[in-house]
Amino acid sequence: MAEEAILGYLENHDEISDSGQFAADRGLDHNDVVNVIKSLHGFRYIDAQDIKKETLVLTEEGKKYAEKGSPEVQLFLAVPQEGSISKEELQKLLDPAVYKIGCSQAAKNKWVQMGNQISRKVQHVEDRVKDLLLQIQDGQELGKDDNNSLKARKLTALQTWKGYSVKRGPDYAPRRRRTATDLTREHLQGYAPICTWICRYSVDHKYELLSAICDVCSTMKCVGYVSEQSGVATMIAAHEKNAYHLEDVVTVGDWRNIEFKEYNFSAKGMLKVWVKERIKNIFRLMNFEEMPTNRYVESSFWNFDALFQPQQHPARDSHDTFFLKAPATTKQLPEDYVEMVKRVHESGGYGSRGYGYEWKREEANKNLLRTHTTAISSRMLYALAQHAKQQSFTPKKYFSIDRVFRNEAVDRTHLAEFHQIEGLVCDRGLTLGHLIGVLQDFFSRLAMLEENGYYHGEKSDFKMHTLFSGMNKLKFKPAYNPYTEPSMEIFRFRIMNSSNSCTACKVIGNLIHPIYASYHEGLKKWVEIGNSGMFRPEMLRPMGFSEDVNVIAWGLSLERPTMILYGINNIRDLFGHKVDLGLIKKNPLCLLGIK
Ligand code: PHE
Repeated sequence: MAEEAILGYLENHDEISDSGQFAADRGLDHNDVVNVIKSLHGFRYIDAQDIKKETLVLTEEGKKYAEKGSPEVQLFLAVPQEGSISKEELQKLLDPAVYKIGCSQAAKNKWVQMGNQISRKVQHVEDRVKDLLLQIQDGQELGKDDNNSLKARKLTALQTWKGYSVKRGPDYAPRRRRTATDLTREHLQGYAPICTWICRYSVDHKYELLSAICDVCSTMKCVGYVSEQSGVATMIAAHEKNAYHLEDVVTVGDWRNIEFKEYNFSAKGMLKVWVKERIKNIFRLMNFEEMPTNRYVESSFWNFDALFQPQQHPARDSHDTFFLKAPATTKQLPEDYVEMVKRVHESGGYGSRGYGYEWKREEANKNLLRTHTTAISSRMLYALAQHAKQQSFTPKKYFSIDRVFRNEAVDRTHLAEFHQIEGLVCDRGLTLGHLIGVLQDFFSRLAMLEENGYYHGEKSDFKMHTLFSGMNKLKFKPAYNPYTEPSMEIFRFRIMNSSNSCTACKVIGNLIHPIYASYHEGLKKWVEIGNSGMFRPEMLRPMGFSEDVNVIAWGLSLERPTMILYGINNIRDLFGHKVDLGLIKKNPLCLLGIK
């Protein structure tokens, strides 16, 4: 539905300026529209640009007052019209928060006389706060003062809305070209019981389709004439009274005309497997143990909640994360630990104030495709903390390299799935200095691997021996992750050896091209390569670790170093059905340690 609407609209219009408006006008779900946009963008049917808008929404507290009235009015109404009521009695009538806020606001408004006995000062009050909240719920705009006062009372908050503007892309077509991956029974038989055809057998053994009635939408459409050659007539002859959907006229039963996806017989092996093994070796040499990462489906609990990532965090939106429809929720979580996690989100502890919102079990239960391997790290650390409680604490160095998934538009450098490399150290008394030291060690080993790797593919003018040599400096920039504090983005500075020149681009020293086109400019550049930090007490303490245990950790994508190693500039050459095994066969293996 959404796909037809978008492609159809662009046939006659230059642009969809706002996907939200577009969905609303057509009664479509914006999430569905966004998913279709991402997919069509990936296949270059359309060009999509992000748009972000801030909208004012009610907080949970705001929603309650919009429904039940503001605390001050609730309190006012609880005070009798004549006479007075004691504090204690009034308190019994109201919710504690409503009582507390109600007292201060009603007194401020001079509605009630406070004291041990509380009485009314006025006879009628208007619930302006409730009216304003209802106006916001209605999408109306308020004046600046009203906005500020609601915001100060934390009854409203800004929410970032994400959508797209869309234009025709380089491969635009009004309909998606469908290529089949397998020849199915349906292709041969042509049976899809949805529509009823009215057709006439004509003298020259051709079928003339006069019209078809769709059983779903009940419209009658003239579908014109279809010849026997197309295979469609054959299908109709066999199932004259059977039903077909209009859309399926050319595909169902039309095995002669189907375009099949090409098989890639050489896609068995993966270039990355090799790089992955090398990087595993780096970790093993550094005495790290591999974590078991064999689960792509994870619960939101381990992927987010255990990592102190609040339930309203934008990454937990279906725009960014793939949630599972079936099974939609997890069956089992460690209940005692869940309770601790809930508590730390809601009200903190261990020196933290928490987030102060109502933590919902339903959110934590939702299954998803893990968005980072840190989900595995949280499971492993929890197990380690349990072990420490029962027996004794054992320091650990863990690593993992495996697949993660993000709901992103697919392009030259992004896939909806990629691999993450992750390392962590858990021990007593670790500091940021330890983290920096471990990162220096890890990345200099990685740089050595890159320096000695070479690309010697089919394009022989891309011979790249000893890609770079020289300095490998790291620089750190303060960053933010919900689960680490402090957090640091890792940047790497490379100065390339200028003694080699690339025969293709003739730039001296630029042997990594073209993804690192930045190296063309003077061959010096800081490049972001990873993310790191120290896990927060809000994550570690609920697991059961004692206060003196710290965890330092870092993560980066596997695709980056692999692309560098092989001078590959399109991530799809590295991952997926287009991978060329020839590259592996023809590439002489890199020799570690030999320049
Ligand atoms: N999980 C982070 C990411 O997905 C990487 C990371 C791991 C950051 C460990 C800090 C500590 O980017």
